[in-house]
Amino acid sequence: MKHNRITIFDTTLRDGEQCPGASMNLREKLEVARQLARLKVDVIEGGFPVISDGDFTAVQTIAREVKGPIICGLARCVPKDIEAAGEALKPAGKRGRIHVFLATSKIHREFKLGKAQNEILRLAVEGVKRAKAYTDNVEFSPEDASRTEPEFLVEVCKAVVAAGATTVNIPDTVGYAVPEQYGALIKTLFDSVREFQTGKAVISVHCHNDLGLAVANSLAAVRNGARQVECTVNGIGERAGNASLEEVVMAVKTRQDFFDGFACGVNTREIVKSSRLVSRMSSLVVQRNKAIVGENAFAHSSGIHQDGILKKRETYEIMDPEDVGWGKTQLPLTKHSGRAAVAARLRHLGFKMTDADVGAIFAKFKEIGDKKKFVYDDDLAAIVEGQLTDVPETWTLDYLNVTSGNQTVPTATVRLKKAGAKAGEPNQEAAIGDGPVDAALKAIDRLTKTRGKLMDYALRAVSQGKDALGEVTVKVDFGDGNLITGKGASTDVIEASARAYLNSVNRHLSDRNGVRSSAQP
Ligand code: KIV
Ligand code: ZN
Repeated sequence: MKHNRITIFDTTLRDGEQCPGASMNLREKLEVARQLARLKVDVIEGGFPVISDGDFTAVQTIAREVKGPIICGLARCVPKDIEAAGEALKPAGKRGRIHVFLATSKIHREFKLGKAQNEILRLAVEGVKRAKAYTDNVEFSPEDASRTEPEFLVEVCKAVVAAGATTVNIPDTVGYAVPEQYGALIKTLFDSVREFQTGKAVISVHCHNDLGLAVANSLAAVRNGARQVECTVNGIGERAGNASLEEVVMAVKTRQDFFDGFACGVNTREIVKSSRLVSRMSSLVVQRNKAIVGENAFAHSSGIHQDGILKKRETYEIMDPEDVGWGKTQLPLTKHSGRAAVAARLRHLGFKMTDADVGAIFAKFKEIGDKKKFVYDDDLAAIVEGQLTDVPETWTLDYLNVTSGNQTVPTATVRLKKAGAKAGEPNQEAAIGDGPVDAALKAIDRLTKTRGKLMDYALRAVSQGKDALGEVTVKVDFGDGNLITGKGASTDVIEASARAYLNSVNRHLSDRNGVRSSAQP
């Protein structure tokens, strides 16, 4: 019997975070997890505990602090992975789920694993049984399922369900599937495995977006028996990303005529807030024309459309923007606003802050309030983000002066403070560059004795107006091939750039000994 409740499994913090340059620190992950709980997703995949101490701690902390959703940790079908996931998930108690995976497709069996079908079956069953020792809630993923021989996939599903898996996920790992075919595969599995029909086990789908079909494939699967969809906020993830949570949820809600009786438990009014938070925390900008959450998603520029909207909104709008959280903007704060007003606005934005955090944010707020007339919600969020960094501030910016113009060689003078520096240590340098930003970065390189290659630079106005806070995000390669993200905000874009670069230098210095392992799926 098919029930019609769709479980939303959010993997923003695991598959989403695997996107190059999107890595988040513990506090950033925790803020995202708390917001996912407010969004009312059913499952949060918090990470891959065996992969690094950072992932282990993130899953453990989320399991301890975030109430409501099931908390999940990923593991390969190997004892040390399952043990790490089981340990990290302990604080979640009965809300803990272990997600074990093993590739099943011919190409992965032959070239990646060098294992025959019967060996794969044995390892999958063993992995599920081992995970069952920690929790009843076990999910199994035959990696690259969409390119696996359907008969073998049926065999795998039957075996892992018999071993105790309560969810079997059918990943389209490389984004190869097309909706009709993928839907038919899900129907075959549903029709072949009795436990999927009785509801004893659930079919899940996990689609990547290499052909831009991740959402379409997920929806086709739902129509054919899948009852869990794995997705990420803003569709972030490996390569072209994963199915976008907001698109899946809103398609089902908006097209109830087609998705007859299907429902997700998501609080759609939290969607925009979640999107913005994930974008800020992952440093991945949302494209303007992104469905549901892009700046233009509800902007009507043509006169004919505007006229129609004014007469009846539904003429050109299939969703109510307020339904996804594009709400009325709140009155901005000003330099006259007090600490209580700032604390209240932080709570409204969903940030859970200690008194000390609020104090530090309030001090920064006052600084910015002196420079600009209004401090908008996004300005405040940018300040919070600067505060969430748990990277030791080895270097901080003390003084910056740049000269530049169309007849001048751009020159920067930079003075830095170094944590624990002895008196008299040199802390000021000047450099010339191709532009004022280049000059400032060169001076920083000289002082910090690092040599970063700027691989990506993005500047965005955090809020509106000529005095808007500029937020700079840089991705820097310090010579080891890893991209380190840095962020900085200021009403002066050169200062924001220097702060962002310095942030990446500090991250690089603190990460030097803690590179992520290569076991990433
Ligand atoms: O894409 C994939 O196959 C995965 C699995 C680990 C579920 O992310
Ligand atoms: Zn994936």
